[in-house]
Amino acid sequence: MSENNHKPHAHEKVEKNVGLLAVLIAVVVSFGGLAEIVPLMYQAEAIEPLPGVEPYPALELAGRDVYVREGCYNCHSQMVRTLRFETERYGHYSLAGESVYDRPFQWGSKRTGPDLARVGGRYSDDWHRVHLINPRDVVPESNMPAYPWLASSKVDGEQTVRRMRALQRVGDPYTDEAIAQAPDALAGKTELDAVVAYLQGLGRHAPRSGEAQGGAQ
Ligand code: HEC
Repeated sequence: MSENNHKPHAHEKVEKNVGLLAVLIAVVVSFGGLAEIVPLMYQAEAIEPLPGVEPYPALELAGRDVYVREGCYNCHSQMVRTLRFETERYGHYSLAGESVYDRPFQWGSKRTGPDLARVGGRYSDDWHRVHLINPRDVVPESNMPAYPWLASSKVDGEQTVRRMRALQRVGDPYTDEAIAQAPDALAGKTELDAVVAYLQGLGRHAPRSGEAQGGAQ
Protein backbone atom coordinates (compact mmCIF):
# COMPACT_ATOMS: atom_id res chain seq x y z
CA MET A 1 0.00 0.00 0.00
CA SER A 2 2.02 2.96 -1.18
CA GLU A 3 0.85 6.44 -0.24
CA ASN A 4 0.63 7.45 -3.90
CA ASN A 5 -2.38 5.39 -4.91
CA HIS A 6 -4.23 6.09 -1.70
CA LYS A 7 -7.96 6.59 -2.40
CA PRO A 8 -9.98 8.30 0.36
CA HIS A 9 -12.76 6.16 1.83
CA ALA A 10 -16.21 7.59 2.47
CA HIS A 11 -15.74 7.59 6.24
CA GLU A 12 -12.51 9.47 5.84
CA LYS A 13 -14.42 12.22 4.08
CA VAL A 14 -16.89 12.33 6.97
CA GLU A 15 -14.19 12.40 9.60
CA LYS A 16 -12.33 15.24 7.95
CA ASN A 17 -15.37 17.42 7.33
CA VAL A 18 -16.69 18.89 10.56
CA GLY A 19 -19.89 20.21 8.98
CA LEU A 20 -20.82 16.88 7.43
CA LEU A 21 -19.90 15.04 10.61
CA ALA A 22 -22.15 17.33 12.66
CA VAL A 23 -25.09 16.82 10.31
CA LEU A 24 -24.72 13.04 10.36
CA ILE A 25 -24.39 12.98 14.17
CA ALA A 26 -27.61 15.01 14.38
CA VAL A 27 -29.37 12.47 12.13
CA VAL A 28 -28.20 9.52 14.23
CA VAL A 29 -29.16 11.19 17.51
CA SER A 30 -32.62 12.13 16.21
CA PHE A 31 -33.32 8.55 15.19
CA GLY A 32 -32.32 7.42 18.67
CA GLY A 33 -34.54 10.09 20.21
CA LEU A 34 -37.51 9.15 18.06
CA ALA A 35 -37.15 5.48 18.88
CA GLU A 36 -37.18 6.33 22.61
CA ILE A 37 -39.80 9.05 22.72
CA VAL A 38 -42.45 8.20 20.14
CA PRO A 39 -43.56 4.88 21.69
CA LEU A 40 -44.15 6.73 25.00
CA MET A 41 -46.73 8.92 23.31
CA TYR A 42 -48.83 5.83 22.56
CA GLN A 43 -48.43 3.98 25.82
CA ALA A 44 -51.69 3.86 27.72
CA GLU A 45 -49.83 3.96 31.03
CA ALA A 46 -48.37 7.36 30.17
CA ILE A 47 -51.35 9.06 28.55
CA GLU A 48 -54.52 7.60 30.06
CA PRO A 49 -56.00 8.74 33.35
CA LEU A 50 -55.86 6.32 36.28
CA PRO A 51 -59.27 4.94 37.24
CA GLY A 52 -61.28 7.68 38.92
CA VAL A 53 -59.10 10.56 37.73
CA GLU A 54 -61.30 13.31 36.33
CA PRO A 55 -60.76 16.88 35.25
CA TYR A 56 -60.59 19.32 38.18
CA PRO A 57 -63.93 20.56 39.49
CA ALA A 58 -64.41 24.32 38.91
CA LEU A 59 -63.24 25.48 42.35
CA GLU A 60 -60.11 23.31 42.30
CA LEU A 61 -59.32 24.40 38.76
CA ALA A 62 -59.57 28.04 39.86
CA GLY A 63 -57.28 27.22 42.80
CA ARG A 64 -54.82 25.56 40.52
CA ASP A 65 -54.69 28.68 38.37
CA VAL A 66 -53.91 30.77 41.45
CA TYR A 67 -51.21 28.25 42.42
CA VAL A 68 -49.59 28.67 39.00
CA ARG A 69 -50.06 32.45 39.00
CA GLU A 70 -48.40 32.82 42.41
CA GLY A 71 -45.48 30.64 41.36
CA CYS A 72 -45.89 28.08 44.14
CA TYR A 73 -44.05 25.65 41.83
CA ASN A 74 -40.88 27.67 42.36
CA CYS A 75 -40.57 26.02 45.75
CA HIS A 76 -42.85 22.98 45.52
CA SER A 77 -42.72 19.97 43.22
CA GLN A 78 -45.65 17.61 42.75
CA MET A 79 -43.81 14.44 41.97
CA VAL A 80 -42.92 11.79 44.49
CA ARG A 81 -40.04 9.77 43.17
CA THR A 82 -39.73 5.99 43.41
CA LEU A 83 -36.99 6.19 46.03
CA ARG A 84 -37.73 4.65 49.38
CA PHE A 85 -37.02 7.73 51.48
CA GLU A 86 -39.48 9.65 49.30
CA THR A 87 -42.28 7.10 49.47
CA GLU A 88 -41.82 6.82 53.24
CA ARG A 89 -42.06 10.56 53.67
CA TYR A 90 -44.78 11.41 51.18
CA GLY A 91 -46.65 8.23 50.22
CA HIS A 92 -47.01 6.31 47.00
CA TYR A 93 -44.77 7.56 44.20
CA SER A 94 -46.42 9.64 41.50
CA LEU A 95 -47.88 7.99 38.41
CA ALA A 96 -48.25 9.67 35.01
CA GLY A 97 -51.95 8.75 34.93
CA GLU A 98 -52.63 11.02 37.93
CA SER A 99 -51.67 14.18 36.11
CA VAL A 100 -53.14 13.77 32.64
CA TYR A 101 -55.40 16.77 33.27
CA ASP A 102 -52.60 18.96 34.61
CA ARG A 103 -51.88 21.63 32.06
CA PRO A 104 -49.19 22.69 32.62
CA PHE A 105 -47.97 19.77 34.76
CA GLN A 106 -46.45 20.63 38.13
CA TRP A 107 -43.89 17.83 38.49
CA GLY A 108 -40.69 19.77 38.96
CA SER A 109 -37.56 19.11 40.95
CA LYS A 110 -37.23 22.37 42.90
CA ARG A 111 -38.00 21.73 46.53
CA THR A 112 -37.40 24.66 48.80
CA GLY A 113 -40.57 23.41 50.49
CA PRO A 114 -41.89 19.84 50.63
CA ASP A 115 -43.38 17.99 47.66
CA LEU A 116 -47.14 18.60 47.56
CA ALA A 117 -48.31 15.66 45.42
CA ARG A 118 -49.75 13.90 48.50
CA VAL A 119 -50.62 16.85 50.71
CA GLY A 120 -54.43 16.51 50.34
CA GLY A 121 -56.05 15.60 53.64
CA ARG A 122 -52.81 15.89 55.62
CA TYR A 123 -53.97 19.12 57.29
CA SER A 124 -57.36 20.71 57.96
CA ASP A 125 -58.76 23.46 55.74
CA ASP A 126 -58.24 25.87 58.64
CA TRP A 127 -54.58 24.94 58.93
CA HIS A 128 -54.10 25.74 55.23
CA ARG A 129 -55.91 29.06 55.57
CA VAL A 130 -53.77 30.22 58.45
CA HIS A 131 -50.64 28.85 56.78
CA LEU A 132 -51.26 30.64 53.48
CA ILE A 133 -52.13 33.95 55.15
CA ASN A 134 -49.00 33.76 57.29
CA PRO A 135 -46.95 30.52 57.33
CA ARG A 136 -45.09 31.61 60.52
CA ASP A 137 -48.33 31.37 62.52
CA VAL A 138 -48.27 27.57 62.24
CA VAL A 139 -44.65 26.79 61.31
CA PRO A 140 -42.50 29.34 63.18
CA GLU A 141 -39.28 28.54 61.29
CA SER A 142 -40.97 28.65 57.85
CA ASN A 143 -39.48 30.80 55.11
CA MET A 144 -42.48 30.42 52.83
CA PRO A 145 -43.88 33.79 51.69
CA ALA A 146 -47.27 34.95 53.05
CA TYR A 147 -50.20 35.24 50.65
CA PRO A 148 -52.70 37.33 52.63
CA TRP A 149 -54.36 38.85 49.56
CA LEU A 150 -55.83 35.47 48.58
CA ALA A 151 -58.34 35.86 51.41
CA SER A 152 -59.77 39.06 49.99
CA SER A 153 -59.63 38.42 46.23
CA LYS A 154 -62.71 36.80 44.73
CA VAL A 155 -62.39 33.98 42.22
CA ASP A 156 -62.93 35.18 38.66
CA GLY A 157 -65.78 32.85 37.68
CA GLU A 158 -65.98 33.97 34.08
CA GLN A 159 -62.30 33.31 33.57
CA THR A 160 -62.65 29.82 35.04
CA VAL A 161 -65.61 29.04 32.76
CA ARG A 162 -63.60 30.14 29.75
CA ARG A 163 -60.75 27.96 30.87
CA MET A 164 -63.02 24.93 31.30
CA ARG A 165 -64.31 25.48 27.75
CA ALA A 166 -60.76 25.69 26.41
CA LEU A 167 -59.82 22.47 28.22
CA GLN A 168 -62.96 20.80 26.87
CA ARG A 169 -61.89 21.80 23.37
CA VAL A 170 -58.47 20.20 23.75
CA GLY A 171 -60.11 16.97 24.89
CA ASP A 172 -60.62 17.09 28.66
CA PRO A 173 -63.97 15.40 29.32
CA TYR A 174 -65.79 18.36 30.92
CA THR A 175 -69.53 18.11 30.32
CA ASP A 176 -71.47 21.19 29.18
CA GLU A 177 -73.49 20.71 32.34
CA ALA A 178 -70.42 20.93 34.59
CA ILE A 179 -69.35 24.10 32.83
CA ALA A 180 -72.85 25.61 33.12
CA GLN A 181 -72.83 24.91 36.88
CA ALA A 182 -69.40 26.41 37.45
CA PRO A 183 -70.54 30.01 38.13
CA ASP A 184 -72.77 28.75 40.96
CA ALA A 185 -69.96 26.64 42.41
CA LEU A 186 -67.68 29.66 42.37
CA ALA A 187 -70.10 32.36 43.52
CA GLY A 188 -68.71 34.25 46.50
CA LYS A 189 -65.59 32.09 46.76
CA THR A 190 -62.24 33.69 47.50
CA GLU A 191 -58.98 32.69 45.90
CA LEU A 192 -58.00 31.31 49.31
CA ASP A 193 -61.04 28.96 49.24
CA ALA A 194 -59.98 27.86 45.77
CA VAL A 195 -56.32 27.18 46.62
CA VAL A 196 -57.29 25.25 49.75
CA ALA A 197 -59.77 23.14 47.74
CA TYR A 198 -57.04 22.46 45.20
CA LEU A 199 -54.47 21.50 47.85
CA GLN A 200 -56.92 19.21 49.61
CA GLY A 201 -57.54 17.34 46.37
CA LEU A 202 -53.87 16.65 45.68
CA GLY A 203 -53.05 12.96 45.81
CA ARG A 204 -56.72 11.96 45.93
CA HIS A 205 -56.18 9.32 43.25
CA ALA A 206 -52.86 8.04 44.43
CA PRO A 207 -52.74 4.29 44.98
CA ARG A 208 -52.47 3.70 48.70
CA SER A 209 -48.95 2.78 49.73
CA GLY A 210 -48.41 -0.93 49.64
CA GLU A 211 -51.02 -1.43 46.90
CA ALA A 212 -50.24 -3.29 43.68
CA GLN A 213 -47.41 -1.13 42.37
CA GLY A 214 -46.14 -0.08 45.79
CA GLY A 215 -43.08 -1.29 47.61
CA ALA A 216 -40.62 0.72 45.56
CA GLN A 217 -37.12 0.65 46.90
C1 HEC B 1 -40.03 30.66 48.65
C2 HEC B 1 -40.45 29.29 48.66
C3 HEC B 1 -41.93 28.96 48.77
C4 HEC B 1 -42.97 29.39 48.00
C5 HEC B 1 -42.94 30.38 46.83
C6 HEC B 1 -44.15 28.70 48.47
N1 HEC B 1 -43.82 27.86 49.49
FE1 HEC B 1 -45.07 26.57 50.43
N2 HEC B 1 -43.56 26.00 51.67
C7 HEC B 1 -42.27 26.47 51.63
C8 HEC B 1 -41.53 25.91 52.74
C9 HEC B 1 -40.07 26.20 53.06
C10 HEC B 1 -42.41 25.08 53.46
C11 HEC B 1 -42.11 24.27 54.76
C12 HEC B 1 -42.41 25.15 55.97
C13 HEC B 1 -43.88 25.42 56.10
O1 HEC B 1 -44.66 24.48 56.29
O2 HEC B 1 -44.27 26.60 56.02
C14 HEC B 1 -43.68 25.15 52.75
C15 HEC B 1 -44.81 24.44 53.11
C16 HEC B 1 -45.99 24.40 52.40
C17 HEC B 1 -47.11 23.53 52.67
C18 HEC B 1 -47.16 22.46 53.76
C19 HEC B 1 -46.57 21.18 53.17
C20 HEC B 1 -46.39 20.06 54.14
O3 HEC B 1 -46.42 18.89 53.70
O4 HEC B 1 -46.20 20.32 55.34
C21 HEC B 1 -48.09 23.84 51.77
C22 HEC B 1 -49.46 23.20 51.67
C23 HEC B 1 -47.60 24.91 50.93
N3 HEC B 1 -46.31 25.21 51.33
C24 HEC B 1 -48.32 25.50 49.92
C25 HEC B 1 -47.83 26.56 49.16
C26 HEC B 1 -48.64 27.29 48.19
C27 HEC B 1 -50.09 26.99 47.86
C28 HEC B 1 -47.84 28.25 47.66
C29 HEC B 1 -48.20 29.32 46.64
C30 HEC B 1 -49.36 30.14 46.97
C31 HEC B 1 -46.52 28.12 48.28
N4 HEC B 1 -46.56 27.10 49.18
C32 HEC B 1 -45.42 28.88 47.93
C33 HEC B 1 -41.76 27.32 50.68
C34 HEC B 1 -42.47 27.99 49.72
